Amino acid sequence: MPEVKKRQWGRLVALGGTLAVLVPLGYLWATSLVPDSYNPAKMGYADYGGGSMEHMHHEGMSVTELTGPRTGKPDVDVTLVARKQKYQLASGGTVDGYTVNGTSPGPLIRAKVGDLVQVTFVNESVKDGATLHWHGIDVPNAEDGVAGVTQDAVPVGGKHVYRFKASQAGTYWYHSHQVSSDEVKGGLFGPIVIAPAAPGEVVATIHTYDGKRTINGRTGNGRVELPAGTTARVRVINTDNTVLRVGLVGTPYKVVAVDGNDVHDPTPVTAAYALPAGGRVDLEAVVPPGGMRLVAGTSSLSLGIAPAGTDPPSAELPGNTVDLLTYGTPAPLGFEPGKANRTFEYRIGRTAGFLDGKPGLWWTINGHKFPDVPMFMVAEGDVVRMKISNTSGQAHPMHLHGHHAVVLSRNGIPATGSPWWTDTLEVGNKETYEIAFVANNPGLWMDHCHNLPHATQGLMTHLMYEGTTTPYRVGGTSRNEPE
Ligand code: C2O
Ligand code: CU
Repeated sequence: MPEVKKRQWGRLVALGGTLAVLVPLGYLWATSLVPDSYNPAKMGYADYGGGSMEHMHHEGMSVTELTGPRTGKPDVDVTLVARKQKYQLASGGTVDGYTVNGTSPGPLIRAKVGDLVQVTFVNESVKDGATLHWHGIDVPNAEDGVAGVTQDAVPVGGKHVYRFKASQAGTYWYHSHQVSSDEVKGGLFGPIVIAPAAPGEVVATIHTYDGKRTINGRTGNGRVELPAGTTARVRVINTDNTVLRVGLVGTPYKVVAVDGNDVHDPTPVTAAYALPAGGRVDLEAVVPPGGMRLVAGTSSLSLGIAPAGTDPPSAELPGNTVDLLTYGTPAPLGFEPGKANRTFEYRIGRTAGFLDGKPGLWWTINGHKFPDVPMFMVAEGDVVRMKISNTSGQAHPMHLHGHHAVVLSRNGIPATGSPWWTDTLEVGNKETYEIAFVANNPGLWMDHCHNLPHATQGLMTHLMYEGTTTPYRVGGTSRNEPE
């Protein structure tokens, strides 16, 4: 072949090769585009979990109808104002982020079981808009605070009133569910405790601001004074994106509640407790004469809990970890997981490809990338089992809104301890959990990873009660971006 021809041929081959790569790539890119704005009730494909659709009624129930009590004088009535601002941490140091009523963490909201809670949320200056989600509290769907699903994000100058009954005692937190990966990280959150104030109560909200981990906005070693002999209940909240080992040092302690659910027959431990992102744990111990410490991660971040004039000993957390699979003793669940009429799989994986036109490594659910993920369909009264497995190479703290689930097994080993009720479950790489719950709270509920950047990368789907509709939209002109 003459030299010129050869070169032309070579170019043609190269072009063909490029096209062979580009055409399918272009196809993958185009099919990965998330519509400009979408209806979260129509996302992905319906997965009926092997259950029948017979008793599923199709007359649409709108999330807007699923409100808390609209009338009645609230027992707890607070106004929370969100701001974008520079603020000082309790231990000094400036953060440029978000506050609630001028501080981060925002104020503690306290209610008793049965109270009607009313929160008037005002967005003073959060540009992207904001909402409040009541993490772990099984509120009626319209009060759930998810932008684009249960409401529109509250714009600057706007307000939104949440009303719900405090149904279950425990430790919870509230946070924005609009651009949550940015707003929560920046400080738009606070604690909520449903229980009467008790003398031994300590609330410890753990958060990392600009790379500095804090307890109640304070770096280093803080302290609270409690007389020796007081039974302390330390309510620990992990508002960060990854799991954190916490525990009391200086005395054995009991894990008395997990995610707002009492543990049955807790026994004293000296191990650490692995607190998932978004999760809560209540630790109980009698304050010894020399005091004790809550340690978060390492001994460089702690909260001394001690009688006046004493400096409680500091120590690292032990290497072993409390295993809730065997901790405590069994108690009735109030339903029979063995009689489940729906069984779902939530298989978390990872794949290279495009998501909304962006190349990268993306999470998959049952082999599908967002938004073509399964929509877990239920009807009210269903008993649901869900097997969550993870081969994605990273751990995921999985959070289902509006429901508490009980852990049945991990990696095939049945739970034999106290009923392990949870709303935020750490599913490690190569782990499989089987959980069960009763579908008793109609609506459209997020079921996502609480490592919030992971949720923005598509590790997010919904549990949907058949027939639910929503007038809200995500993305595009709606400006709603829940993750
Ligand atoms: Cu703590 Cu979907 O949220
Ligand atoms: Cu994750």
